[in-house]
Amino acid sequence: MAEVNGNRIARTAVLMTCACDDKTMRALEEKYDLYPLWQSRNKEEFIAANAHTVRAIVTRGDLGADGALIRAIPHLEIIACYGVGTDAIDLAAAKECGVRVTNTPDVLVGDVADLGIGLALAIMRNIPAADEFVRSGQWGRYSMPLVRRFFGCNLGIVGFGKIGRTIAKRAAAFDAVVGYFDVARNADSPHQFFPTLVDLAAWSDVLMVTLSGGESTRGLIDRNVLDALGPSGFLVNVSRGSVVDEAELLAALEANRIGGAGLDVFWHEPEIDQRFMKLTNTVLQPHHASATVETREEMGRLVCANLSAHFANQKLITPVV
Ligand code: 8YV
Repeated sequence: MAEVNGNRIARTAVLMTCACDDKTMRALEEKYDLYPLWQSRNKEEFIAANAHTVRAIVTRGDLGADGALIRAIPHLEIIACYGVGTDAIDLAAAKECGVRVTNTPDVLVGDVADLGIGLALAIMRNIPAADEFVRSGQWGRYSMPLVRRFFGCNLGIVGFGKIGRTIAKRAAAFDAVVGYFDVARNADSPHQFFPTLVDLAAWSDVLMVTLSGGESTRGLIDRNVLDALGPSGFLVNVSRGSVVDEAELLAALEANRIGGAGLDVFWHEPEIDQRFMKLTNTVLQPHHASATVETREEMGRLVCANLSAHFANQKLITPVV
């Protein structure tokens, strides 16, 4: 509630499934009444109690908004996603209920590409283990096992969209040879196109997964792909956990059937499979690829701009539907 001349005025109610960065939270709080679903003990009760008030949802790419949530809010007009991936938003339910959806494309591409390269370096050079080697006083008493070279590697990029192409650009500085798999050859790209994932994996030293999540890509990185990558190959995933058959990945990592993995995303976040914790050939991240102050603030600006445009009856900045 805002107060104007001592009168309490109800403002547009926005259901937040998550917190955003501080600057974005302040910008949202200035304009809207925020309903913090993520802080509620009983989510169903919280939604039922506020369903008739809420007109917008702000959510994250990984949390999304399912059909039950969308249908439970009768005056819902817009879902503004603080992220680019909309695979966790029930777009069909949104369409059926006349709810607009926006996301934050482009602004996070650079950061996700950076973390992709960072994870490849971290797992191949074994940076976390080397850090632990120094901190635990082993340096001088034992020798750190040799690691693997990243520069000049064959880098196979799975999904050659904006993020995949930006990783290819970054990789040029490391003299990496880039090949890619996508639904079709990219006529503008000088890089080698592989029509099958197994062929790309067999050729790659590093297989970098960057394509969107959702039903069409579920389980694409399966046992055949992992076996083709083999014991000297490394998997990096900065897209969605769902793209990789995680049971097969865990089995391959445990048996050293692949060299290692750098993972920002998982099937069940944040309660990831405990078997990951025991692996020494894996570098783990908490779904953090876009999580720099700069990018999160840009994502937040887009969320706010889309909400403002919608409630001012203006054209949305980055509409999904
Ligand atoms: C975010 C993402 O970490 O944009 C996406 O789809 O998965 C990530 O950039 C997530 O949306 C949290 O904001």
